[in-house]
Amino acid sequence: MLYSEKVMDHFQNPRNVGKIENADGIGEVGNAVCGDIMKVYIKVDCGIITDVKFNTFGCGSAIATSSMATEMIKGKKIEDALALTNKAVVEALDGLPAHKIHCSVLAEEAVKAAVKDYYDKNGIAYDKSLFPDCESCEECHLK
Ligand code: FES
Repeated sequence: MLYSEKVMDHFQNPRNVGKIENADGIGEVGNAVCGDIMKVYIKVDCGIITDVKFNTFGCGSAIATSSMATEMIKGKKIEDALALTNKAVVEALDGLPAHKIHCSVLAEEAVKAAVKDYYDKNGIAYDKSLFPDCESCEECHLK
């Protein structure tokens, strides 16, 4: 089968879909490969991600990876969310077909963008190399 049971489960019953009113951080990213869009909302309390939701205009693999990614960072420290890689999310889903790996990058980048937004809004200093260089990047169509 092309997709694992976990991918199908998270695609058909995605966790944490929606929007958080008064979110502490919002990340919106676009996938340069396919043009799909992902938005992630986080609620942060004392450095812990107490709630997370996502909305996507994306394919089934983007939905499944975002669902899994939100499950993996919920209740975790901000630092743990930043350390989450698309590879770890794909592994947790028991794999994705090679041509769908780019979809999982959307989830990772949206989580990172939400954390960056939280840092920016709260005046928290951070290592800029942890985030994509949006100022000079030419790839994102959202600009
Ligand atoms: Fe666009 Fe999967 S094809 S995110």
